[in-house]
Amino acid sequence: MNETNSSSCPLVWVTGATGLIGGLVVQSSAGNADRWIVRPLTRRHFDLSDAGSMSACFHRERPSAVIHCGALSKTPDCEREPDMAQRINVDGTRHLAELAAEIPLIFLSSDMVFDGRKGGYLETDPVNPLSIYAETKIEGEQYILKNPLHTVVRTSLNYGASPTGNRSFNEEMLAAWGAGKTLSFFIDEFRCPIPAVVTARVLWQLLNQGARRLYHVAGSERLSRWDIAECVARRHPGIVAPRKAESRASYQGPPRPADTSIHCSRVQALLPFSLPRFSEWMADVS
Ligand SMILES: NC(=O)c1ccc[n+]([C@@H]2O[C@H](COP(=O)([O-])OP(=O)(O)OC[C@H]3O[C@@H](n4cnc5c(N)ncnc54)[C@H](OP(=O)(O)O)[C@@H]3O)[C@@H](O)[C@H]2O)c1
Repeated sequence: MNETNSSSCPLVWVTGATGLIGGLVVQSSAGNADRWIVRPLTRRHFDLSDAGSMSACFHRERPSAVIHCGALSKTPDCEREPDMAQRINVDGTRHLAELAAEIPLIFLSSDMVFDGRKGGYLETDPVNPLSIYAETKIEGEQYILKNPLHTVVRTSLNYGASPTGNRSFNEEMLAAWGAGKTLSFFIDEFRCPIPAVVTARVLWQLLNQGARRLYHVAGSERLSRWDIAECVARRHPGIVAPRKAESRASYQGPPRPADTSIHCSRVQALLPFSLPRFSEWMADVS
């Protein structure tokens, strides 16, 4: 149900609605959010770093739940602008959590909270951030988890089509290939990619079931960056996709986790569908 329907259904805010995951949460509301009026929120409504406008909007609209997808979500942007990352990802999240103290709120976090030395992480494993992005996500999580009504969802690399066409990793790859660039991918760095449409569906499931606390939400297959790129290239057979396999041994740059694969059995036990193996999902073009 969208925000224009007049009904007695409760209102759910979706922040970051112009982003990849927020956009798909809104798009997938049909069939998943029938008991909600869905309110997509963007910078037009308030800036996440502007506590005053956020409060005014919250008190005006009085939502009954929040799915908080808005964030400074790219690691390089957070490294370049750490103050902004703090204001949006930490202060903005804390302020929203305070406003939403008496209603359910789901906060999107990341597998990047782990240092990647071990892989196969459970929700109970200790975090250890290697980047400012990860630091801000951990701080955000800590505020959220203080409230038993609130939920943290740590997801992995999300594949999909964003409303602006340039947000997801696959859109960035296709744009670079379209510009004739050759891309390098590590054969020894691992994640558990997931289609963002599946992440969105899981978020609705968790909200509808009133699930609380911390969940890992990712694909059920651990893949290297190189394997992930192969999946994307194969899904777009018409494009020229020049690529090179590389080892992390040749990498010189800010620290990056080697293996942030995550186990999702906690959330899987709540779902009426299986979290997909990414390579199989990508090969299925039906
Ligand atoms: N995508 C992934 O692979 C992935 C993986 C792990 C975790 N996550 C987490 O999942 C969440 C959603 O990610 P995403 O990929 O959908 O991110 P995204 O595509 O970058 O979208 C971020 C959203 O936040 C909004 N936003 C950013 N700064 C804002 C501000 N100051 N005020 C108001 N809105 C602001 C953006 O608005 P504009 O369009 O106006 O900039 C956009 O709507 C984030 O918390 C991210 O860290 C994502």
